[in-house]
Amino acid sequence: MRKRMQKLPLSTLTDRYGRDITYLRVSVTDRCDFRCVYCMSEHMTFLPKRELLTLEELYRLCSAFVARGVRRLRITGGEPLVRKNIMWLFKALARHLDNGTLDELTLTTNASQLKRFAHDLKAVGVERINVSLDTLDADRFRAITRWGDLGTVMNGLAAADEAGLKVKINTVALKETNEDELDEMIQFAHSRGYDLTLIETMPMGDVDGDRTDQYLPLSIVRARLMYRWTLHDIPHRTGGPARYVEVRETGGRLGFITPMSHNFCESCNRVRLTCTGTLYMCLGQEDAADLRAPLRSNPDDTGLHDAIDQAIALKPKGHDFVIDRRGAKPSVARHMSVTGG
Ligand code: GTP
Ligand code: 5AD
Ligand code: SF4
Repeated sequence: MRKRMQKLPLSTLTDRYGRDITYLRVSVTDRCDFRCVYCMSEHMTFLPKRELLTLEELYRLCSAFVARGVRRLRITGGEPLVRKNIMWLFKALARHLDNGTLDELTLTTNASQLKRFAHDLKAVGVERINVSLDTLDADRFRAITRWGDLGTVMNGLAAADEAGLKVKINTVALKETNEDELDEMIQFAHSRGYDLTLIETMPMGDVDGDRTDQYLPLSIVRARLMYRWTLHDIPHRTGGPARYVEVRETGGRLGFITPMSHNFCESCNRVRLTCTGTLYMCLGQEDAADLRAPLRSNPDDTGLHDAIDQAIALKPKGHDFVIDRRGAKPSVARHMSVTGG
């Protein structure tokens, strides 16, 4: 009887504002081998390992979303490539690419482990990756990431090139930290055939410094870049929140992600799964549902699909980040590394 119920076609996911949910971001670990100043405090307490879903459970959860019409999966963290045996999950999920139920399997990474993984990622069907890189200066890199080494990341990027992975660089624009380097970042990225996306820092989780010292509105950045570069708005979209321009002088693409100064939530197509099986309906809100209990309580997925339906019904209209008062609490208490950006 159960088997027959499973065979009924499952409905796709649409929220109460009519937005189709076709994109799942999965944070496979909250751990990271860096401690970026805008993302983490230096002494983080991570989840005990026993709280994590197994890779098999993550596979089952992702597959349930694919069965509900999710066409793109992005694996994030923390740093996804520090999760033990992570290639098992990529290989398993790639089956959905092979049978045509998934359009894209990708990841966001700090590139520290890319040298080891780039080739295998490409071999299973990952086509493009997003790499977080905020500076090209080794000392600054150490200051921003606290624990990272620029040379290792550069070797990781070279391995990605060699493997034939398309790369997009994500750069968080930080006041007084890398704001004088953004022209150089454009030159670097575009000369290597990478897209570059600039991101405004968002008030997520306690970090050691004050966010008002870090926040740099991209409207200011864009105005400054226009002294040097000719920027043309283009309709290019990846399904993410970035709005793109083409830089005439380089022929490359430059994206702006502006959660603070401009809201793009009306076209949001995504939800976020954490490594403990919590589904967050919005990066900037607390609305969440536990999928681990229904996953574990029943070997078939009926209870899980009910829980997914109830969760999607909770998706809020949008986020509401504010960085205003000095010393104020972050708008969202959890760190970016919990939900993976
Ligand atoms: P693609 O467009 O597929 O390349 O992905 P993306 O830009 O969404 O992915 P990426 O992991 O590179 O995300 C970059 C950053 O954009 C994230 O880390 C977040 O900082 C921000 N971002 C992505 N999605 C959202 C969203 O729904 N809301 C908000 N506020 N920020 C988002
Ligand atoms: N605000 C904006 N971007 C952030 N990231 C991490 N923390 C923050 C924050 N508070 C970025 C990383 C990476 C992506 C996953 O999220 O630099 O590119
Ligand atoms: Fe790690 Fe990315 Fe956070 Fe930096 S921004 S600490 S690389 S998860």
